[in-house]
Amino acid sequence: MGASSLLLFLLLIVSVSLSVAHNITDMLSGMPEYSLFNSYLTQTKLADEVNSRQTITCLVLPNAAMSSLAGNHPLSVIKNALSLLVLLDYYDTSKLHDISKGTTLTTTLYQTTGNAPGNLGFVNITDLKGGKVGFGSAATGSKLDSTYTKSVKQIPYNISVLEISAPIIAPGILTAPPPSASDVNVTALLEKHGCKTFASLIQTSGVLKVYQSEMAKGLTVFAPSDEAFKAPGAPDLSKLTNAELVTLLQYHALAGYTPIGTLKTAKAPISTLATNGAGKYDLTVKTAGDSVTLDTGVDSSRVADTVIDNTPVCIFTVDNILLPSELFGKSPSPAPGPGPEPVSSPSPAVSPSPAPVVIEAPGPSIKSPPAPPLAPEGAPAEAPVAEAAKSTAGSGAVDLRAPALWKTVATVSAAFVTRALLS
Ligand SMILES: *[C@@H]1O[C@H](CO)[C@@H](O)[C@H](O)[C@H]1NC(C)=O
Ligand SMILES: *[C@@H]1O[C@H](CO)[C@@H](O)[C@H](O)[C@H]1NC(C)=O
Ligand SMILES: *[C@@H]1O[C@H](CO)[C@@H](O)[C@H](O)[C@H]1NC(C)=O
Ligand SMILES: *[C@@H]1O[C@H](CO)[C@@H](O)[C@H](O)[C@H]1NC(C)=O
Repeated sequence: MGASSLLLFLLLIVSVSLSVAHNITDMLSGMPEYSLFNSYLTQTKLADEVNSRQTITCLVLPNAAMSSLAGNHPLSVIKNALSLLVLLDYYDTSKLHDISKGTTLTTTLYQTTGNAPGNLGFVNITDLKGGKVGFGSAATGSKLDSTYTKSVKQIPYNISVLEISAPIIAPGILTAPPPSASDVNVTALLEKHGCKTFASLIQTSGVLKVYQSEMAKGLTVFAPSDEAFKAPGAPDLSKLTNAELVTLLQYHALAGYTPIGTLKTAKAPISTLATNGAGKYDLTVKTAGDSVTLDTGVDSSRVADTVIDNTPVCIFTVDNILLPSELFGKSPSPAPGPGPEPVSSPSPAVSPSPAPVVIEAPGPSIKSPPAPPLAPEGAPAEAPVAEAAKSTAGSGAVDLRAPALWKTVATVSAAFVTRALLS
């Protein structure tokens, strides 16, 4: 326990020191000419993405240009267009005018979303005649019809904010079909991304309906991979009651749109769909560089891959099953123990489906036998020593059920960026 508390402490320090670099919302807040742009950065949650990165250039649009871009486009389209204005490199005025050979392609945030085919996530910066600098999509045949107008603010070499005259439009970016909640086939997407077990569980348990009812307002899902369910020591789900299984699956989702940049900047524990009066069922987010880890208090899991990030729905894969401490915790009387099953266990969010807890029995019996007692039955109930032995046995039992504890905490990965760059 001492080692993991220390690790937790170190991670806390790392994540805090990484997350306070800059605040784009604050930087633009005193400048009314960018108020519309700033407002869309917040609405699309791109501000969190900008703030969570260390070397970045934000090309901003004055209100008139922003207003014509926003037009009648859905937020998902605006988000894509604005992510093309976030350059993953530091450009100030002198660097702009000093581009070798006078032209370069630079990577943008759009490239990291997985929504940008080919080189559509890159921007062409070219020194034009007369000291002007032009910006355009890297797609062949694109015009450089946006130009640098002025420098807004710099924190060298962390963030540079530059004004440009017009949005950079990549081919097709404005006409991408807006994803409506009913367009997203969650189970099909999950199956395609190696999460067949999870897809099947949410279908048979009825939790899929809960997810679907949240999708219009915003939904974030953390889907464990098929490997996570097969991992040695993964909990035996057939030992859970229906209500516990529903709670466990609801614990793998958040109400609201929480893309990766927003996760990275989450400071307080975040509530899940399982959160209700009877339990916190929350998650703590730890960030180290590009690696994001979710900590349940019992185990932790790396956020591995983005399955879909389309405002307002975001689905990630995770390496381990997330085990809420309310169900798998190390308290002397574990929640899934004997005792009457609470009738109102699933949160009110389940109500859209009349009988959500009815599932196919995975084994001969759905009802589990009571969890084994933490200490051996006949253990003499002596004094402090026995108590200590008991609690050791207790944490041993927890570790058996959640052996992934801290396994992935130290994993440092640039998965999101490298995947995008390689594709
Ligand atoms: C730039 O970012 C680094 C890392 O977050 C930070 O230590 C440094 O203070 C920042 N520089 C400025 C001038 O804010
Ligand atoms: C950034 O600044 C805005 C406006 O000043 C503030 O509301 C917001 O909480 C800040 N964000 C962070 C992550 O500190
Ligand atoms: C940028 O665009 C201009 C004009 O289309 C083109 O001549 C130039 O080669 C492009 N730069 C790069 C690095 O592709
Ligand atoms: C979603 O995909 C699954 C396959 O995973 C398919 O069985 C189902 O019919 C699809 N649902 C809709 C509404 O298209």
